Amino acid sequence: MEAMTSTNSPAPLVAVVMGSASDWGTMRHAVDFLNDLGVSNEHRIVSAHRTPELMADFARAAAGRGLRVIIAGAGGAAHLPGMIAAHTWLPVLGVPVESQALKGIDSFFSIAQMPAGVAVGTLAIGVAGAKNSGLLAASIIGLTDEKVRAKIEAFRQKQTEAVLAQHLA
Ligand code: RP5
Repeated sequence: MEAMTSTNSPAPLVAVVMGSASDWGTMRHAVDFLNDLGVSNEHRIVSAHRTPELMADFARAAAGRGLRVIIAGAGGAAHLPGMIAAHTWLPVLGVPVESQALKGIDSFFSIAQMPAGVAVGTLAIGVAGAKNSGLLAASIIGLTDEKVRAKIEAFRQKQTEAVLAQHLA
């Protein structure tokens, strides 16, 4: 049975995929960021190991469907980002999900250590990485979309002001 796809737009520009439903608690932060920055997106479970044919079909079809960036999150033997990148020319951002046994160090090394010639942009382990994957994907979309660029600049400005307003007791 094919995994469900959730989308906030008929023409999503960014796909957020993850190896398991257990990754959603982390990867939902990427989706939240994309939604806040006004980037149309979809999210779904695609597993390199458990649904390898779906993964290959998804990756091969992605550019033709109008997707412009793929965010892939996985934990443990985290082959999903690299294997998706092997099947598409689109930019792929990899999020190492924190694993129980090795706290995401395994996920991080699996995603970061790509062989030359097939690229994955590796983010930080866990929620920070998921959030920044949404922000980075939005920045890529913002290269050609002024509305998204303006939202990123407003977010950054607000963040700076919030830090400057902080006082230590
Ligand atoms: C990976 O295995 C997934 O990305 C997940 O992080 C990890 C564990 O999956 P579950 O056993 O929780 O489904 O493929």
